[in-house]
Amino acid sequence: MGETIFAEMSALAVATGSVNLGQGFPDTDGPREVAEAAAAAILEGRGNQYPPGPGIAPLRQAIADHQQRFYGLGFDPDREVLVTAGATEAIAAALLALLEPGDEVIAFEPYYDSYAACVALAGGVRVPVTLRAPDFRPDLDAVRSAITPRTRLILLNSPHNPTGSVFTRAELTAIAALACEHDLLVIADEVYEHMVYEGEHVPIGSLPGMRERTVSISSAGKTFSFTGWKIGWVTAAPALVEAVRAVKQFLTFVSGGPFQYAIAEALRMPDAYYASIGERLRGKRDLLCAGLSRAGFEVYSPQGTYFVTTDIRPLGDADGVEFCRNLPRQAGVVAIPNAVFYDDREAGRTQVRFAFCKRDEVLADALARLEKWAGRG
Ligand SMILES: Cc1ncc(COP(=O)(O)O)c(C=O)c1O
Repeated sequence: MGETIFAEMSALAVATGSVNLGQGFPDTDGPREVAEAAAAAILEGRGNQYPPGPGIAPLRQAIADHQQRFYGLGFDPDREVLVTAGATEAIAAALLALLEPGDEVIAFEPYYDSYAACVALAGGVRVPVTLRAPDFRPDLDAVRSAITPRTRLILLNSPHNPTGSVFTRAELTAIAALACEHDLLVIADEVYEHMVYEGEHVPIGSLPGMRERTVSISSAGKTFSFTGWKIGWVTAAPALVEAVRAVKQFLTFVSGGPFQYAIAEALRMPDAYYASIGERLRGKRDLLCAGLSRAGFEVYSPQGTYFVTTDIRPLGDADGVEFCRNLPRQAGVVAIPNAVFYDDREAGRTQVRFAFCKRDEVLADALARLEKWAGRG
């Protein structure tokens, strides 16, 4: 349903001339020098033919250096780093590699739509643990009681799309302790690692006992605002990387040769660049949250990511799917109903997600439309 709703909403955005705050992609490209590095790689003939299966050596080294620089985590670029076609392929390859049919996967819902699809493709059984409004904290008792002898892994995403929740060190430590106690693997989707406004991003792989059992996933699409390049990566212990690579080989084999060279350079950008990601987005978050509140939404201000989840009940609505189908024609704005990210549709029925990775004038335009529509403009 996730993919269907994104396509439907994007088509509606075009048909109605709406401001599209639905799908999560920035409307401004990443740094020019990174784009130039990609162009130079193409023109100079670097990466135009199949790159090496695990990814080009300079990019694997840059990924390892990034993990060291930000988290103090040491990875061997030859045996513990794998370049993938975006985080999406990393998630798919990891689940296909690590699950046997019938294995159970505990995942926090609402979840990024590929999780359910890929668990199903791998023949796994997803066992959702629901993050509930208003705080969307992981319920550790619920995680504990979700564990059975068939549980193989915990799939988590922090900072979390679509709720914007950032799991705390204490929460992650408790999840890690359960993983160790029950000998579970963890797949950690950390694509929003550099978009945190409150708290800190703690890679669960950095916690005691987790180095050997965590597959960490991230993506240049988010950090450098080049979502179309689809350069993602996995960092994990050698046996896990080897297993993921064995599947990746038959999904895409390799991808994005010249972009890999560009991202190798991008990852080496100074700390000021990384700091600027959050600083820029924080202002956008505040702008959108304030405007949505003024328009009458209940707003759950996100601690991270570039999404904000709202509740539409104060506006007199109760069905997010219907609300999002009507909003483009009525108000000229596109949003995504959170229900599509839940197994338990009731839990997310009244929630609607807006993306704020857009230019300030685009956000202001969307808000003016929403406030006018809501009768407050
Ligand atoms: C939680 C999460 N994981 C993974 C992805 C996909 O990343 P990529 O574009 O690198 O495949 C997204 C993109 O929206 C996401 O929100």
